[in-house]
Amino acid sequence: DKGGHKHFMAKEIAEQPVVLANALQAYLSDDGIVLPEPGIDFDKVERMVMVACGTAYYACVTAKYWFEQLAGIPVEVDIASEFRYREPPISKGTVALFVSQSGETADTLAALRHCTGRADSILSVVNVESSSIARESDLALPIHAGTEIGVASTKAFTCQLNVLLLLALRAAEARGKMSNSEVATLLDELRRLPGVFNAALGRDDIIRETAEDLADAHDVLFLGRGLMFPLALEGALKLKEISYIHAEAYASGELKHGPIALIDHAVPVVVMAPRDHLFEKTVSNMQEVIARGGPVVLITDAAGAAEAGDDAWRTIVMPDVDPRLTPLLYALPAQLLAYHAAVAKGTDVDQPRNLAKSVTVE
Ligand code: F6R
Repeated sequence: DKGGHKHFMAKEIAEQPVVLANALQAYLSDDGIVLPEPGIDFDKVERMVMVACGTAYYACVTAKYWFEQLAGIPVEVDIASEFRYREPPISKGTVALFVSQSGETADTLAALRHCTGRADSILSVVNVESSSIARESDLALPIHAGTEIGVASTKAFTCQLNVLLLLALRAAEARGKMSNSEVATLLDELRRLPGVFNAALGRDDIIRETAEDLADAHDVLFLGRGLMFPLALEGALKLKEISYIHAEAYASGELKHGPIALIDHAVPVVVMAPRDHLFEKTVSNMQEVIARGGPVVLITDAAGAAEAGDDAWRTIVMPDVDPRLTPLLYALPAQLLAYHAAVAKGTDVDQPRNLAKSVTVE
């Protein structure tokens, strides 16, 4: 049942405020963050490795920034298909974390099995609680996204981010990197996020118009810095998988190390940049694109839009949110750009060619 939507993907995008609110309810009590038993002693963790595929991997890349910056835990992130055959050494004090919507992805499961008996503990962040990955973990954290039918992952991604952020905050608290009141303040912001997300869904028209213009492009680049780098990666993956438009993402600072050679009037560049401490750097990359005739789609907030002026081809303005929560909110325009571009091109949005929802063979 598509609930009145044209596609499951549209339904699942629109569901995000509700599923995020449910997930928060499952993890938050009046006293703060509650993890399922047996919990985890973050005090003793020396290092984390996070492993996944595709969109789930981009959730891990985002989580790396959170765990390092908020909790001070060094994090290594890897693609499961590389990790499993590289068979990296796992030192004592390592917690291994696997993210998988289905919980059945063959490469991710093989990577988990490499860590079994080597890592101090195995955590997983899953949507399907009865899955192999959940069963073989010491602690499985459900994302509470509900069944995801569209092949392109949407609500599972934001719900993965949500659980990973809660975990990072729990770690920050346990390690004395954030005070209880700092955590409580951010949790209040997080509780407000479903409402903010709803407000952002109301900006669908401008995103659809932009996507319809993007639909004619053969190549699209995505740029982001810091927490927006993994979001740029996710935006490019989403666009290529359902609209079949070639899309690549780069860390903004990498632009001048090669990709800038691709810029011309036919290559739109989506710049994801809320007005945070990295904004000016990214805007200067945006100016470099504009100077070479590249049409820029700037996704930012009101302050960012005001500061960037009107040089961008299109500006999509997101509601304001705490800078640490931007990945959850900026997933939305990334998803909607891909969705509307695919609809404009008439592709099979829920069942894109050559793709399967669950990759249980390598
Ligand atoms: C992209 C997408 C895939 C999955 C990947 C991992 O939209 O859905 O990239 O994220 O195949 O799948 P899970 O999370 O089930 O391990």
